[in-house]
Amino acid sequence: MITLVTKSYNLHILILALTITSSVSGELANERQLQFGAKIFQQRCVLCHGDHGMGEGLLPIIVAKYPSTNLFKKKIY
Ligand code: HEC
Repeated sequence: MITLVTKSYNLHILILALTITSSVSGELANERQLQFGAKIFQQRCVLCHGDHGMGEGLLPIIVAKYPSTNLFKKKIY
């Protein structure tokens, strides 16, 4: 009986540990991906779409009649 209780107790600890581990690593992966995406956006997109993606990039400002690069106003496809 004591063995059974101990086993079930251990199982709960294991499940709890797995749950905590997977949710924490999930959040970390998400945060990492967000930071990675932000870095790529800074490197490759800001020139036209601007820091906030609202079309305030340098190229649309200096090139006349440049198409709108506001990612919030246009419909995607
Ligand atoms: C050289 C300038 C330039 C760069 C750099 C650039 N874009 Fe664009 N992007 C544009 C222009 C101009 C349009 C609008 C095209 C049109 O109206 O046909 C556009 C359109 C888009 C759209 C479609 C918007 C919609 O609502 O239809 C998305 C999404 C987008 N860009 C994402 C990105 C991402 C992500 C990057 C970086 C990886 C990037 N762009 C880099 C100029 C640029």
